[in-house]
This record gives sequence, structure tokens and C-alpha cells, in this order.
Amino acid sequence: MPDLFSKFDPLIEQREALLESGLTDPFNLVMERVESPTVAICNGRRTILLGTYNYMGMTFDPDVVAAGKKALDEFGSGTTGSRVLNGTYAGHKAVEQVLKDFYAMDHAMVFSTGYQANLGIISTMAGKDDYIILDIDSHASIYDGCALGNAQIVPFRHNDVEALDKRLKRLPPDAGKLVVLEGVYSMLGDVAPLQEMIAVSKAAGAMVLVDEAHSMGFIGEHGRGVAEAQGVIDDVDFIIGTFSKSVGTVGGFCVSNHPKFEILRLVCRPYVFTASLPPSVVATAATSIRKLMDSADKRAHLWENSKRLHAGLRQLGFTLGTDEPQSAIIAVIMPDLETGAAMWEALLDEGLYVNLARPPATPAGMTLLRCSLCALHSEDQVGEILGMFAAAGRATGCIS
Ligand SMILES: Cc1ncc(COP(=O)(O)O)c(C=O)c1O
Repeated sequence: MPDLFSKFDPLIEQREALLESGLTDPFNLVMERVESPTVAICNGRRTILLGTYNYMGMTFDPDVVAAGKKALDEFGSGTTGSRVLNGTYAGHKAVEQVLKDFYAMDHAMVFSTGYQANLGIISTMAGKDDYIILDIDSHASIYDGCALGNAQIVPFRHNDVEALDKRLKRLPPDAGKLVVLEGVYSMLGDVAPLQEMIAVSKAAGAMVLVDEAHSMGFIGEHGRGVAEAQGVIDDVDFIIGTFSKSVGTVGGFCVSNHPKFEILRLVCRPYVFTASLPPSVVATAATSIRKLMDSADKRAHLWENSKRLHAGLRQLGFTLGTDEPQSAIIAVIMPDLETGAAMWEALLDEGLYVNLARPPATPAGMTLLRCSLCALHSEDQVGEILGMFAAAGRATGCIS
């Protein structure tokens, strides 16, 4: 009998070889206790967290936690149903209203995850004779949204406006087109030239979706994301976001000004055929988003942290994913997986957790140590982090 697992043999061998060398498994770390958005206990040791998506540090905010506890007491642990049946509670409507206020948009639809928001909106909006034009470095949820639907897929080179323009001009002028972009690309932490990309997309008659998962709460005057920062938010047809990053819980959403948007609640399968978020989750999300509206000081501090870490790592001699800090993500490029894993472990031994990222998540076969900063990292912590990179880098031969 053919073993359906045999296709994974190369990956199993690679993983076993890595673990046989005595390295800790970088993809199986347990957070034994979490003390705050920036500190946890891992392997019994106090560890600074530099590999979470907790950009705005909302997970332990007292108002957010209290809202979750209250909803748990008043509405129970879960809805046990779809949004279109018994799964729409007052809290789901409330968080959708907060999203409309946050983005100053007419419509908001909440999904159970950001992954499902991309899956749902992309597969539902682009049908059989339509085209999806997407950046080749798009997140897996965007690709999976394409795979779930049956539109034609047209990828273009990462962040290349000219390549996007050329692809668009080759498509039939009357065909439906959806251009899918991200504000911040999560592997290298680089920002898209949305202004130019949206201009060429609109000139070609395409609708535009921007996934602002890694910019919500942080980038833009009101934290609405890269489209806000570049002054083009009114030209975006759909913004996709998540509650699992700056908002500090779990869930996903799409906001839009399109007058026909509400029909999606009946036709979008990843919205209809799954249970809605628990009441405690939507209550924490609503409280968190409301507070993010008024977080200019935290945004400014997060930019300071990002600039300081970027400059410090560069000075130490590390190769980084971007020349300048563009977001809260700073990627340190490793020469190969073995060195990356050794450096990852050396950092953990120093008391620092970062993400080890590898293909297929990373572009161009890169191994990355991905650092994501939090608005609650103190200046002292950023200094400590740089000291740990210096020690681990020298111990593993990554820097001299
Ligand atoms: C760009 C992007 N979009 C969507 C998602 C999915 O978000 P969620 O964790 O809510 O499923 C992620 C998560 O990593 C992401 O990076």
C-alpha cells in the first residue's frame, strides 16, 4: 500500500538531521508562563520575547482582560454556531461597529481568523472568468484564497510596480480583476509602494485588496495601516486585517466602503460554514481596537524601538532584510538553515526568543531570524537584546 506520508520524507530527514546534531527544536518551543507582552518563561528561564506579533502590547491590558472576563461570565464560553445562524451576538455587532469607526468605513465583517478572511474574500470576490493579480511574496492565506476560488492567477515580482502594470495591461480590458497586496510583508518587514500600485491598478480598472495584518495599530496616523500612511486608503476596495497581531487576540476581518458589501455574509463560505468567535474574544478585540485609536504615544515608541534595534544590529555586522527600518519587523538574514538554527538556539540560551523562519514561508529560499518589536519593549530591553545578539553572533561565528 503506498504510504501517503512518503512525500514528506525529505523534510523528515532534514528535521531529524538538525535534531541529531543536538539542537533544540526551533518549531516546538513551549511558553511555560507568560509574564507580560515582552517576557515569558521558556525552558525554565526568563526570556525576552522578540518573536511575537504583539506589536502594541495589548494582551495584558487591564481593560482588555476585564472585557473578556465580563463577556465570558455574561455570554458563556462559545457561540456554538455560524454567524448566519445562532452565532451573531451583540458583541459581534459591537466589534464590527468598532472596526467601522477605526477605519472610518461603511462596512465591516468579522471572520474567525485573518486566514479565513483572506480565504473568504478572495475566493468569493474573484470568480471563474476573473483575474487575481498578486505579489509573488504574498502570505499563504492569500494563495490559499486563490486556490479555493477558480479565478485565473497572475503573480508579479515582489513590490515591482512596473511588473504589476505590465501584467495588468496584458489582461482583457473588460475582465474582472482583483489586485491583492500587503501593506507590510511579514518575512522581511518591507512596505509596499501602495500609492503607485493602487494608481496603476485603478487605471486598469481593477479592484484592490490590501492585507494590513502587520501594520494595523502601528503604521499611519490613526494606525489604519500603510494605505493610510501613503494617503490612499480611500482608493482601497477591501482592507483585510487580523485580531491576532496588534489587537492581541484572535479573529480576522474585512472592511470596505462598497455599497453591495453586505451580500458577502450570505455567499462567503469561510464566513458561513464555520462557528463564530467566542463572546470573550470579540469583547477583548472591541476594547483593544478602541484603545488602539488613541495610541499615538505607543506608536511613536514602537518606531523608536524599531530604529534602535535596526541600527544596533547593523552596527554589529548583521545583514538585515531592509536598508532602513520600515515596520516593527526586522529580519536578520542567515547564510543557511544550520547556522540560523544554531544562532536561534544561542539567542534562546542568552534569554531571547526570535522566530526562525525558513522556506516555504520565506522568499528566495532564505533562512531568517525574524525579530518583531513590541511597543512595550523598554529602551533597556532593546539594549539587552542587542547585547544578546552580540554574544550569540560571536559564539556562532555569525559576526566577528
Ligand atoms: C499577511 C497576513 N495575512 C493574514 C494572516 C492570518 O492571520 P491570522 O493569524 O488571524 O489567521 C497572517 C498571519 O500571519 C499574515 O501574516
